[in-house]
Amino acid sequence: MTTTDPTTQTLAQIQATNADAIVSRFAEVRYRFDEQAAAQPDLESWRTFVLKWTGRKSGVLTAITDNWLKPAPPDLKRVVGQELNQLKGHIEFVIAERQKAIEAAAEDSALAREKIDLSLPGIERAIGTRHLVRQTYHELLRIFSAIGFSVVEGPEIETPYYNFEALNIPEHHPARDNMDTFYIAGARGGHLLRTHTSPMQIRTMEKQKPPVRIIVPGKVYRRDNPDATHGYMFHQIEGLAVDTDITFCDFRGTVEYFAREFLGPKTKTRLRPSYFPFTEPSAEVDATCHVCRGLGCRVCKQSGWIELFGAGMVNPAVYGFVGYDPEKYSGFAFGMGVDRLAMMKYGVTEVPLLFQNDVRFLQQFP
Ligand code: PHE
Repeated sequence: MTTTDPTTQTLAQIQATNADAIVSRFAEVRYRFDEQAAAQPDLESWRTFVLKWTGRKSGVLTAITDNWLKPAPPDLKRVVGQELNQLKGHIEFVIAERQKAIEAAAEDSALAREKIDLSLPGIERAIGTRHLVRQTYHELLRIFSAIGFSVVEGPEIETPYYNFEALNIPEHHPARDNMDTFYIAGARGGHLLRTHTSPMQIRTMEKQKPPVRIIVPGKVYRRDNPDATHGYMFHQIEGLAVDTDITFCDFRGTVEYFAREFLGPKTKTRLRPSYFPFTEPSAEVDATCHVCRGLGCRVCKQSGWIELFGAGMVNPAVYGFVGYDPEKYSGFAFGMGVDRLAMMKYGVTEVPLLFQNDVRFLQQFP
């Protein structure tokens, strides 16, 4: 059963014919309002509720104005007006206060709904490992940093001057033949892809006076037909030490130190005569096989020795190109094939394996 809403009737109809009755009618309305205001569960019902009380056309306050105030007899108008104003003030105040709380609560619950659950396990991304060539680089750099060499890098696109001439390899010199070179089409001044890291010997000495102790890691390119032991690109580390009193003994000692660090403390080395235009004398450095310790096995092809790298004392002719006094300075240089060293040490037999990026291969070198 519903009782008729008193605000839809006049005061006379609801028998509020004196000031006390009117005051208590207003108190009832106010009580009803407070009760409802406290009961709104969410922002949406709150809006409906606000409209129901303050809506200009059919809100309760409008109804009271129309039904209670306007038709009130003149002697009661004053008290009705006062009560109505107080009620209005109360309603506006409560609405403003509750509004803030309700909006804050709505925002809180929206945040709670959208909150990211950090305790959920994420999508695991496979973390790779350093490539075998990179690992070997790091090992070589560590070995040489420990004895005072610093790392410099240089351009892969070079000029014939730095790649050949300044390294004492003039045009038509046969040494250019066994370094089949990629020339860059249309490049003015005939640029090329460096065939070794040795150009950085020249670039470094041009820029700085001795003492020089550098190693140069980087990619080099040669026009080889790709097979099990050749690609068209490989990695080198160049070494150069120049100072006032560097002797062949320093060279020999550095080579031995390197071989022991890289292949183990029992490793022995030997030098075989060789030829490079920019070193004199030149040598191929061999080490006792790290697998059989020099007895002869499959890895060293029964010889007991494995070839490590090419090296030698810097040819005085090179100093002429960089303005060093060959009477005053001496030094040694070496050039290592990083991929070769990595393959030898870790028993990899095919160059292509290094660069196919097959995880099954790469995962074997965590
Ligand atoms: N640059 C030579 C090569 O690539 C290696 C080398 C470097 C030899 C330095 C001697 C001194 O074959």
